[in-house]
Amino acid sequence: MSDDSRIESVLSEQRVFDPPADFAERCGGAWVESMEVYRELHEASVEDPENFWGAIANELDWFEPWTSVLDWDAPDAKWFVNGKINACYNCVDRLINMGHGDQAALIWEGEPVGEEGPEVRTLTYRELHAEVCRFANGLKSLGVERGDIVTIYMGMVPELTIAVLACARIGAPHSVIFGGFSAAAIADRVEDAKSETIITCDGAWRRGSVVPLKANVDEAMKSTDHVKNVVVLRRCNNEIDMHVGRDHFWSDLVEDQSDECPCEPMDSEDMLFLLYTSGSTGKPKGIMHTTGGYLVHTYLTSRYTFNLRPGQDHVYWCTADVGWITGHSYIIYGILQNHVPTLMYEGAPNHPDPDRFWEIVDRHKVTHFYTAPTAIRAFMKWGEEHPRKHDLSSLCVLGTVGEPINPEAWMWYHRVIGHERCPIVDTWWQTETGGHMITPLPAATPAVPGSCTLPFLGIDAAVVDKEGHELNPNEGGLLVVRKPWPSMLRGIYGDRQRFIDTYFSTVEGMYFAGDSARRDDRGYFWIMGRMDDVINVSGHRLGTMEVESALVSHDAVVEAAVVGMPHEIKGTGIAAFCSLSPAYQADDHLRDVLREHVAKEIGAIAKPDMIRFTDALPKTRSGKIMRRLLRDIAAGKESTGDMTTLEDFSVIASLRGDEE
Ligand code: PRX
Repeated sequence: MSDDSRIESVLSEQRVFDPPADFAERCGGAWVESMEVYRELHEASVEDPENFWGAIANELDWFEPWTSVLDWDAPDAKWFVNGKINACYNCVDRLINMGHGDQAALIWEGEPVGEEGPEVRTLTYRELHAEVCRFANGLKSLGVERGDIVTIYMGMVPELTIAVLACARIGAPHSVIFGGFSAAAIADRVEDAKSETIITCDGAWRRGSVVPLKANVDEAMKSTDHVKNVVVLRRCNNEIDMHVGRDHFWSDLVEDQSDECPCEPMDSEDMLFLLYTSGSTGKPKGIMHTTGGYLVHTYLTSRYTFNLRPGQDHVYWCTADVGWITGHSYIIYGILQNHVPTLMYEGAPNHPDPDRFWEIVDRHKVTHFYTAPTAIRAFMKWGEEHPRKHDLSSLCVLGTVGEPINPEAWMWYHRVIGHERCPIVDTWWQTETGGHMITPLPAATPAVPGSCTLPFLGIDAAVVDKEGHELNPNEGGLLVVRKPWPSMLRGIYGDRQRFIDTYFSTVEGMYFAGDSARRDDRGYFWIMGRMDDVINVSGHRLGTMEVESALVSHDAVVEAAVVGMPHEIKGTGIAAFCSLSPAYQADDHLRDVLREHVAKEIGAIAKPDMIRFTDALPKTRSGKIMRRLLRDIAAGKESTGDMTTLEDFSVIASLRGDEE
């Protein structure tokens, strides 16, 4: 990280887009209807977060009430202390009790399109309840108990949501691994979590071909011996090996199970899930989220950020994968609690045709659509004619997440998808924050393309220097959150020190997000990028050290340095600089081999976009790799920074000369 916590910044976009005048009418009313209301609520909620969040928590069902809303001893937060609650109960049973049992909870669409169209399944709350109970009983029959961490590695099928909720129901924290990760990544996570049960699929559909999930699990099992049971859902009917005694078909497991299964009354602070994410070291960290606070925060943010209005025929669709935090919070937990059907789509946005998403929006009459800037940039490239083919008039709120949205992509989204009548909510948050932190509210906040605007209710976000002093408008600095919030991470699994060092040591007493930001004259936040060695590739978070470790684990690579570089679609691409063992030839063949090697070690998302070979990496006299210089080289810029400490100037010439 740069020693200077004040960062230079440039002003860019300043156009302001007010919420459309007829928004509340089109969206069935508005929760927060104006800036005045927002400001009032925000001020009061930050002044007295306990009162604010306590009132929201009262809307959920608790088995036992909390004795105090918050116990804060930085960096440790306890929310709804001593309260007893169950996440699955609040997402499913509660809605049935409210009389919504026969309404759609989950709408799922498969990727393949047969002669009769795609496969679509709709589960009502009652049907979801029955499926979840049967599977929860199945897990229990395998010996899974409260507190056991269950790994889930599946494609985007309804059973993924069922599995997540079943774990929550019986109090077994889930650890979902994105289906695009490799066998090696599964093994690492299973080892770290000491997980004894894995739920997977035979395969997953992706652009018409099958991703061999079960084979990846089998491969992972060669390097860990924790796992006792593997549950396999048949989806693609691809050929798989079943290991007698260890592997069980989902269908067999649920066959004779009852469709009633009591919910475990969990302590508010019991772990609901672990989700691994990348950080500055080679080892992904298991972010721990607990139950009560996470539910309250995702419930309220879903409701207010998207303006979900139960009973208004809303259909909400988030295109993320459940393998990321966005899917956890805003496909499953936050949305189900709000009694609005959540749509889950299995496959790629351009399969079989580039208009697939818009066809889905049209056919299902989607009202709320949440996606990532990288997807929007891909749609822009494919052309306006694809969305133009479809009736998108059902849409009333558009959302974006995962990386800063460039103003061009924002404008395209606004014009071509939103037909200039849908507010765009640019939501800033992280795996660690569990839910939205800085975001417009659709009926209230005037939007400025590229800015995630203002903190959510109850959130005390600020831009500060290292001493914690708030900076002046347009001065770049560290993005922090000064007060605890309900869905904040409670730790890194098995690594207390890393938790403290990463989030609570940069600025004393405050949560440091790892991002730099500035606030403009209106107080709007502009995210400037990561300050650590994390890069955001297509909105997916990767540690440069992870990719470096993967590269040097190949015999050919002696040393590697990985940096982000500008990329038209991905936002940030991956540039790798490698020095080679003399036994290997620096050529395109080796580049391909190394790219595949990284895919095998981490997953296809981590494949470098550019690999340059070099005799040596540029280092300072103290031996630190000069990443800023490499970033400039990768971006094709002449480096303007201070290079007086560079150990060997000739390496720069060699790095520049060896183009891919
Ligand atoms: O750099 C920020 C960026 O994504 C990081 C968090 O990544 P992850 O934990 O994978 O969660 C992504 C989904 C919540 C942040 O530190 N980021 C996320 N949303 C935005 C963003 N950057 C700018 N604008 C956003 N709306």
